[in-house]
Amino acid sequence: VKGTVFVEFLDHVEDKYGLDVLDSVILALQGKLSTNGAYTSVGNYPHEEMLELASAICSMRGESLESLLDDFAQSLMLSFERMHPEFFDKEQDIFDFFSTLESRIHTDVRKIYPDARPPLILCRRIAEDSLEISYQSARPLALMAIALTRATGVRFEEELEVEVLTLADDHSSMRMVVKRRMATV
Ligand code: HEM
Repeated sequence: VKGTVFVEFLDHVEDKYGLDVLDSVILALQGKLSTNGAYTSVGNYPHEEMLELASAICSMRGESLESLLDDFAQSLMLSFERMHPEFFDKEQDIFDFFSTLESRIHTDVRKIYPDARPPLILCRRIAEDSLEISYQSARPLALMAIALTRATGVRFEEELEVEVLTLADDHSSMRMVVKRRMATV
């Protein structure tokens, strides 16, 4: 499951837009990409390039990056759930779920896949209905973390409002506040 996120991204693009779209963006970016787009070869996948591919698809299709990433994040959550059903519990409180990302989920991922480098995701409850989440990674995938946070809301059928507080220029760190609509008693 090396390079899960990247491989899943290529699969998602192929499923949703077709192999010709995938091929043409890879071709369009040829020379700019470290492996010249030979992504099927074994080795560590260049997650940095995922965003370049995503942006290229967006300008080709006239779609917003946010909607493409949200879409991909929802399909990635389904894959995570298929691979690791043990981490999912429909009854679990969504804020508790976010808090287990570091204490349990990504920590287990680091053990199961020694080459994996999932991000450090830390949570701090700032109000009954608000959680501050920080993202820090060796990879520049902060936008993915935002999209995955929204996808988690979809998965838990919770209406979440995500407000980004800070985003590093290189996208390797980010802080956001996630506000949930509390059920009225
Ligand atoms: C049960 C659910 C989850 C599982 C099993 C899981 C597992 C993983 C795995 C296997 C990777 C790949 C690491 C690598 O290839 O180096 C990854 C990366 C990542 N995860 Fe999770 N994850 C889950 C939920 C989430 C959620 C909810 C978020 C968002 C807050 C998140 C944020 C990320 C990001 C942004 C990456 C990309 C790598 C990076 O930015 O450093 N994950 N996760």
